[in-house]
Amino acid sequence: MANLQILFTPEEIDAVVTKLARSIEKDYAGKKPLLLGALKGCFVFMADLVRKLDIPVELDFVKLSSYGPGRSQSKGRVSIVHGLQCSVKAKDVIIIEDIIDTGLTLDFLLEYLQAKKPSSIRVCTLLDKVACRKVQVPIDYTGFVVPDSFLVGYGLDYDERYRHLPGVYALEGELSSLDD
Ligand code: IMP
Ligand code: MG
Repeated sequence: MANLQILFTPEEIDAVVTKLARSIEKDYAGKKPLLLGALKGCFVFMADLVRKLDIPVELDFVKLSSYGPGRSQSKGRVSIVHGLQCSVKAKDVIIIEDIIDTGLTLDFLLEYLQAKKPSSIRVCTLLDKVACRKVQVPIDYTGFVVPDSFLVGYGLDYDERYRHLPGVYALEGELSSLDD
C-alpha cells in the first residue's frame, strides 16, 4: 500500500506562491506577460498565482505528454497533445510548470516556443527536482527545490489521483505495484 507523507502544507505553499507573484510583478512592471500553463499539473498553482498577481496577464495552455497512464517514471519521450491557441509572437511568455524533473518536457516546450518568436521566455515552476535533471534547462522562478521522490497533490497526480489535495505529499510505498 502506498502512503502519503506531507512535504508542504497549504500555508507554506501560499507563502511561496505570494513570493513568486511579487517577483514576477517586479520584473514585469508595465508589461502584460502571457502566462503559458503546462497542463494538467499546473492548474492549481496557476490559478493561485494569477489571483495574487497585481499586473495584467494573458493566459494560454499547452499539454505535453511524457508520462503514460499509471507510470511514475518519465519515458523520456515528449509530444504535444494540445498546442498554443494564441500567437506568442513579440510577447513576453512565462511558462508555468508544476514540477521540473528530468527537464525533457521543458526543453521540448522551449524549442517549440522559440520557433514562434516571442520577445522573451521565462520559466516559473512551483517544484524543482533539481537532482533528477537529464538536460539543463533555465528556470527563472522556483517555489521549492524538492528531493527525488514522487510527489502528488496541489495539482500533481499519480494516475489521475491526488490532484485535489491542498498540500504537496511524497507518495511512498510500493509505487511500482501501482503502475500498469
Ligand atoms: P520532466 O520532463 O521529467 O521534467 O517531467 C515533467 C512533468 O512530469 C511534470 O510537468 C509533471 O507533469 C510530471 N512529473 C514529474 N515528476 C512528477 C512527480 O513527482 N509527481 C507528479 N508528476 C510529475
Ligand atoms: Mg507538468
